[in-house]
Amino acid sequence: MSGAALKEQLAAHARRLAGTRIADLVGGDPARVADFSVQAGPLHACFARQRIDRDALEALFVAFDQAGAAPAIAALFDGGQVNPTEARPALHTALRSDLSEATVARDASAVAREARTRMAALVERICAAGITDVVSVGIGGSDLGPRLVVDALAGDASATGIRVHFLSNVDGAAAQRVLAGLDPSHTAAVLISKSFGTQETLLNGAILRDWLGDDTRLYAVTANTDRAQAAFGIPEDRILPMWDWVGGRYSLWSAVGLPIALAVGMPAFEQLLAGASEMDAHVLRTPVRRNMAAWHAALAVWNRNALGLASHAVVPYDERLKLLPAYLQQLVMESLGKSATLDGRAVPMDTVPVWWGGVGTDTQHSFFQALHQGTQVVPIDFIGAVHSDAPYADNHRALLANLLAQSEALANGQDADDPHRAYAGNRPNTLWLLEALTPRSLGALLAMYEHSVYLQALLWGINPFDQFGVELGKQVAGRLLPALEGQGEADDPVTRALVERLRD
Ligand code: F6P
Repeated sequence: MSGAALKEQLAAHARRLAGTRIADLVGGDPARVADFSVQAGPLHACFARQRIDRDALEALFVAFDQAGAAPAIAALFDGGQVNPTEARPALHTALRSDLSEATVARDASAVAREARTRMAALVERICAAGITDVVSVGIGGSDLGPRLVVDALAGDASATGIRVHFLSNVDGAAAQRVLAGLDPSHTAAVLISKSFGTQETLLNGAILRDWLGDDTRLYAVTANTDRAQAAFGIPEDRILPMWDWVGGRYSLWSAVGLPIALAVGMPAFEQLLAGASEMDAHVLRTPVRRNMAAWHAALAVWNRNALGLASHAVVPYDERLKLLPAYLQQLVMESLGKSATLDGRAVPMDTVPVWWGGVGTDTQHSFFQALHQGTQVVPIDFIGAVHSDAPYADNHRALLANLLAQSEALANGQDADDPHRAYAGNRPNTLWLLEALTPRSLGALLAMYEHSVYLQALLWGINPFDQFGVELGKQVAGRLLPALEGQGEADDPVTRALVERLRD
């Protein structure tokens, strides 16, 4: 089915369902809650509160069948050229699972295992060297995943005795803040950059090198060993590899996860990979109609293209997942923020909405007013953990009560004579439950989002693995740096006036 035909079909279903409320869909179909729930390993998803019925959902699953979802998923795992604009595979699954028989995937898994062995040795070496703090320097995919996982799993007491800090922004205030209070003689720095050509990381890396005053505590993770050696003189035994067959935003499972292993220990890092691998097996082996990632992707496309919803919120009811929205903004929006199809034509429908969010219950007291009564309907992924290892049981029950309440209130609404006090309801949301927040369940959750992104891209006919959209800004900034330093002038009249003002 062409994109245009899918768009038309979804629009027809949306017209048919225009007057149907989520509460009616749930009330009129006793099997809906069970049939619209999917379990995969430690993750449970309840999709019953989406504004869609069985027929419309079936149209999306048929679209998956016609787009070749099963062979496309197999191609991802087998190392097919799923990133055609850069003529590469995207083998992040090979970093954590060994589910493919294809030689290229087997080779990738073997290389990844070898890198993990070196990584474990490096973690031991750093732990044994009396290091108390490690600063991880990287940005985008070389920062957001490790930052999220460390924040989620390391807690206050790190398993290794090492405190891990993150430095990404080129703003000097970021470096100043991170370094304040650290002792250079007990600190190591890990420079993480797939390209080793990223301005922010090179500048911050140089700050760290100078601040440490001793380059024997400088480590790197990169696909460009030559540049790491040339620019920072880091010897090969302190460099862990990356490969062009892993995209930056899909790389936390590789040696890019070194900060994770340094914070939570190698066994917990392996558990994270095991959780992701469980999700990989589920996604690879389960037909789309029972496949968790396919449900998530189908509903994302439904909300965007049939209901025309222009943003999507992620609200974890778990303090430790407060960085999840920021991580997903890169994963989803850098992957799906495209308007050209694989063969270079304009995508006939809208692609990625704006992803955003924040942690519950805090955000109930900030943006939830707009979610309940604003004019824009925002579909939400609510995420909670059944069990908590935090000490205050009453708080956990209150947290879960709020999670359940918000999902219900947004879907069902409440009538009132006074329009100021009325809740329209009918606001779609999915409820995700993790058994507990563990390395395994977190690995599974993140892998689910990766696979959903891949399947959304399949329905939109776009490449989720390139990111040419970020290049233009970098090029212009590169041209403007000399102008700010007083050499030459900016071409653009507006920028020229602003540069003059800054120079003054
Ligand atoms: O934001 C653009 C980007 O290329 C991301 O895709 C990538 O994760 C990030 O920059 C960092 O790149 P590198 O790891 O090469 O420093």
